[in-house]
Amino acid sequence: MIQTLPEEFIRLFGRRGEALFFAPGRVNLIGEYTDISGGHVLPCALAQGTYGLAARRDDGRLRFYSLNFAADGLIETRTVDLAPGRALGWAVYPAGVADRLRRRGLPGDGGLDVLYYGDLPPGAGLSSSASIEVLTAVILNDFYDLGLGLLDLALAAQEAENEFAGLACGIMDQFASALGRPGQAILLNCGDLSHQYRPFRSGEVGLVIADTLKRRALAESKYNQRRAECEAALAALKTRRPLSNLCDLDPDEFESLLEDLVIAPPEAGRRARHVIGENRRTLSAAEALDRGDFAEFGRLLNASHHSLAHDFEVTGPELDALAEAARSAPGCLGSRMTGAGFGGCVVSLVYREAIPDFQRETAARYEQQTGRRPLFYPAEASAGAGKLETL
Ligand code: GLA
Repeated sequence: MIQTLPEEFIRLFGRRGEALFFAPGRVNLIGEYTDISGGHVLPCALAQGTYGLAARRDDGRLRFYSLNFAADGLIETRTVDLAPGRALGWAVYPAGVADRLRRRGLPGDGGLDVLYYGDLPPGAGLSSSASIEVLTAVILNDFYDLGLGLLDLALAAQEAENEFAGLACGIMDQFASALGRPGQAILLNCGDLSHQYRPFRSGEVGLVIADTLKRRALAESKYNQRRAECEAALAALKTRRPLSNLCDLDPDEFESLLEDLVIAPPEAGRRARHVIGENRRTLSAAEALDRGDFAEFGRLLNASHHSLAHDFEVTGPELDALAEAARSAPGCLGSRMTGAGFGGCVVSLVYREAIPDFQRETAARYEQQTGRRPLFYPAEASAGAGKLETL
């Protein structure tokens, strides 16, 4: 598909593409829904993501076309006309990024033609939208010499998602897409954005992503609702202790505060329990990775899923069935949903030599339970976004 982009570009835009860029999706190993509460996450960038063949234009026009949304045709807007709420379909992501970069130096006559192609399944929890955003940010930064670093580009991309796509997401996805490194997981503290790369160095075990094929529905509203519940819990806890984020508390401190505090509604207390416990699990998982203790890492993955299912309530029957099927298949050390949930993918830690048997058994059990056959995707920690070549 990538080879056909230059020809396709000429057909669509009547001119040549100038440079090819790429931004990856991500798989989050552990640390789910902690980014919006100042906690830690442990994602890796993937080899799969979004490619963009682009050409600069100096008339302030933005023209976007995606081979993944070909039915939507060419979407056109202007850099000076950008505003949240415009009906641009999938192009709210690149348009939102251009708007946020306007505030960071993009001139009003700065325009673009971009042909996008992604090899990530959309709505599957692997951050296809963050990859489109970060890709667009990297292109504009390059073409217009904005001089922004990858972290600034990730922050601009997150703002685009918050304000244009209406998802009150944290920084994890855009950060991982921008700053991923081959063979490494990123331990990111979302409270202060400090981060360390943690090598995923094992020839013996690998990651397998399995897709429930259930697509998220109404994810934005449920996501925003979870975020509001976490904020309600934080407000209640603040009446007892000065706190900036839920993740300023450790699980013991949280439970002791609950001895004489009632958090209302009761769901908010359970959401906070997940977030605070998950933050601790993420730090423990990073330590287990350093020690090469994959049995412990796997145990933490299982505990994370359990908490996401019962306290945070973002899994659902398909994700639960697939994680369960994976856990009882040969060679599996642990398995959990990854991303925002409500459908999408499960990530498992599996002995490499057992991967074919693992996939066969997992698929058979999941199909028996749900009548659907899952898809499996390779999961190798890969590099972050950048320019691939100038044409
Ligand atoms: C989505 C959001 C992230 C994060 C995850 C859940 O991917 O974009 O910011 O909150 O959900 O961990």
